[in-house]
Amino acid sequence: MQTLPVRPARPYFSSGPCAKPPGWSADQLDMRALGRSHRSGLGKQRLQLCIDLMRELLELPDTHRIGIVPGSDTGAFEMAMWTMLGARGVTTLAWESFGEGWVTDAVRQLRLDPRVIRADYGALPDLTQVNWWTDVLFTWNGTTSGVRVPDAEWIPADREGLSFADATSAVFAYRIDWTKVDVATFSWQKVLGGEGGHGVLILGPRAVDRLESFVPDRPLPKLFRLTAKGKLIEGIFKGETINTPSMLAVEDAIFALEWAKGLGRLDALVARSSANAAALGKIVDERSWLHHLATDPASRSTTSVCLTLGGADEARIKAIAKLLEAEQVAYDIAGYRDAPPGLRIWCGATVDTADIEKLGPWLDYAWEQTK
Ligand SMILES: Cc1ncc(COP(=O)(O)O)c(C=O)c1O
Repeated sequence: MQTLPVRPARPYFSSGPCAKPPGWSADQLDMRALGRSHRSGLGKQRLQLCIDLMRELLELPDTHRIGIVPGSDTGAFEMAMWTMLGARGVTTLAWESFGEGWVTDAVRQLRLDPRVIRADYGALPDLTQVNWWTDVLFTWNGTTSGVRVPDAEWIPADREGLSFADATSAVFAYRIDWTKVDVATFSWQKVLGGEGGHGVLILGPRAVDRLESFVPDRPLPKLFRLTAKGKLIEGIFKGETINTPSMLAVEDAIFALEWAKGLGRLDALVARSSANAAALGKIVDERSWLHHLATDPASRSTTSVCLTLGGADEARIKAIAKLLEAEQVAYDIAGYRDAPPGLRIWCGATVDTADIEKLGPWLDYAWEQTK
């Protein structure tokens, strides 16, 4: 009988919701604020703590506000689009499914006639083509192709339009130059290994100016309203959420943030993702049939790493993913439905490098078994 390779200790490699922090268990969450008003002293204190921890770990400058909003990353990003776009021209960048989703919003729902700059799965569009007189929407890390912007150098300091970054699989994995970001959004369910449901909205000073000076010609549901009487609702950025949050999700996020703080803050989180991606890169390099979908290493993700397998079609990919799930080796690693057939292995900070390393022999095994 064939001896099977050693299994990863935690087979959690989904690209969202992502693996919980190592050592996580529900009974370690602080439950004192549950079953109580989120507007009680304690509720407000816990929401403020969550905001303060995010600010500290992201190394967010005082110029930028950060708040908890409804609807996960999608809610946060659409809230920004619906409240701020239309004041000037719009450019949307798309190189995978989520960026393409924001194009659809801009074209079909907001009817903005944006300039769309696209690239195929695996590539990054030519960022020098962007006209910064316009507002610019982009995805910092394209989760479904594993292609990210390498840095913020391509965003000019003296831009006239606003930069809108869907940064959900980027924050806590890359250092972000916040002076180049006017709007950023994310969800706890990615690099922190938290829960979905809530989004986080980051606003730079120029975004606040836009909100206070521009009234879009469209109805805004209460869930999207960031201003009252022409002024930013500052309470949103102090934990006075627009509507009732899940305090369980908030406590879970606090757990993850405290884990990250104990680990050594942002540098430690970035180092863990990088080490995971490097370990997976080594597995790819050692196998002639495994390839990165992202062609340029400079813009290759170190969170959502997408791989193609020597011409394997969708059926074979599905069989491989199913086999590895059944063996309790790797859960949820088939590529995104709209992406070219392949595997997607999350390398964010909550995944342990030793577990990534154990995937190599198992990928060999699944490759042989599905021939
Ligand atoms: C780049 C990107 N944008 C948006 C989303 C949607 O996030 P959520 O489901 O948290 O709203 C995802 C989820 O995977 C994503 O990867």
